[in-house]
Amino acid sequence: MTANPSILLTGGAGFIGSHTCLALCAAGFEPVILDNFSNSSPAVLERLQRLRGQAVVCERGDVGDTALVQTVIERHGIAAVIHFAGFKAVGESVAKPLKYYANNLGGMVSLLQGMDAAGCRTLVFSSSATVYGDPASVPITEDFPRSHTNPYGHSKLVGEDIMAAMRIANPAWRMGVLRYFNPVGAHPSGLIGEDPLGIPDNLMPYVTQVAVGQRPHLNVYGNDYATPDGTGVRDYIHVQDLAAGHVAAVQALLGRGESFTVNLGTGRGHSVLEVVHAFEQNSGRPVPYQIAPRRPGDVAQCYANPALAHRLLGWQAHHTLDDMCADAWRWQSQNPSGYR
Ligand code: NAD
Ligand code: UFG
Repeated sequence: MTANPSILLTGGAGFIGSHTCLALCAAGFEPVILDNFSNSSPAVLERLQRLRGQAVVCERGDVGDTALVQTVIERHGIAAVIHFAGFKAVGESVAKPLKYYANNLGGMVSLLQGMDAAGCRTLVFSSSATVYGDPASVPITEDFPRSHTNPYGHSKLVGEDIMAAMRIANPAWRMGVLRYFNPVGAHPSGLIGEDPLGIPDNLMPYVTQVAVGQRPHLNVYGNDYATPDGTGVRDYIHVQDLAAGHVAAVQALLGRGESFTVNLGTGRGHSVLEVVHAFEQNSGRPVPYQIAPRRPGDVAQCYANPALAHRLLGWQAHHTLDDMCADAWRWQSQNPSGYR
């Protein structure tokens, strides 16, 4: 490995990309962001500079621009790409499927073409536990059958398949598929975090907005699931642990060079009410909630068996639910309107 290899982060200005950017710097890599800011703010760049003590290179543009991808890879001598760029709102994907197929799959094809043309064939992909659909049991291992229940999930599943086809066509490709469970939390500085536009779809940003007084109460979607307290159980993972997982993935691909598909989760499930109570304790704020009907498409339980990531990458999650709540609260309370 050359000193300070440059890593391209498509969508690197977003929630997970911005945290991974700092983790890469700390591990001796040189990140280069390619982002069109369709779901993020350029203000994150100034925060990254403050935290790193040096500017992070950012190319403003669209991953669907194949010629730009090739140029950026060649200009910066990119050793590997982490592909975060994409849309991620499940409900919107049902209403606007073509928006999701165009950006998530069109983006993947364009990226692979640009990488191939530039001769860079090392790729880490942001996949999701959504590819397991409604799992027959928990914890989930990587060999569970894949399925999808919405266009977003379908785009992740097909994204994985496109990567597999490229490896068959040319074994020089080195690829890491990371199936994230439920990323939450924020950098411990409170300077970067999750900044959803509009009404949050996901539990933790909704809880933080209730705690900060922006929304009156949380709707808990169902309390009649077959779980210990009846509310949905998920594998919440601190975004800092997730960021470390990307560093481990890049190191493994640039080192040993074997492709892999791994879960990134803690292996522990927490219910909605456990999250609410942990958040109240760590923020000192009440989180009023009402029980609402089940949300269509939700599963009762979803949590990982993360043993394969530990075996192949030497990675495991360390942060607790309390850490996730405390850091999410620090970010939200210091930045009530996010980056705006
Ligand atoms: P995010 O929306 O915060 O970040 C995505 C970034 O990609 C944004 O900065 C956006 O501006 C950029 N982008 C989108 N389309 C682009 C394009 N065509 N060209 C250039 N930039 C583009 O989302 P995130 O939470 O950081 O998620 C990152 C990735 O991880 C996504 O692919 C998402 O599907 C996946 N993922 C997220 C979760 C989650 O719960 N956050 C769970 C599983 C998988
Ligand atoms: N929930 C509520 N109220 C809310 C929001 C969520 O009760 O306002 C509940 C849900 O019913 C579920 C749990 O909180 O039981 C977690 O819901 P999220 O929307 O935060 O997360 P999901 O597990 O539904 O989905 C997330 C991402 C998907 C991704 C999946 C697995 O949104 O894109 O994790 O990675 F595929």
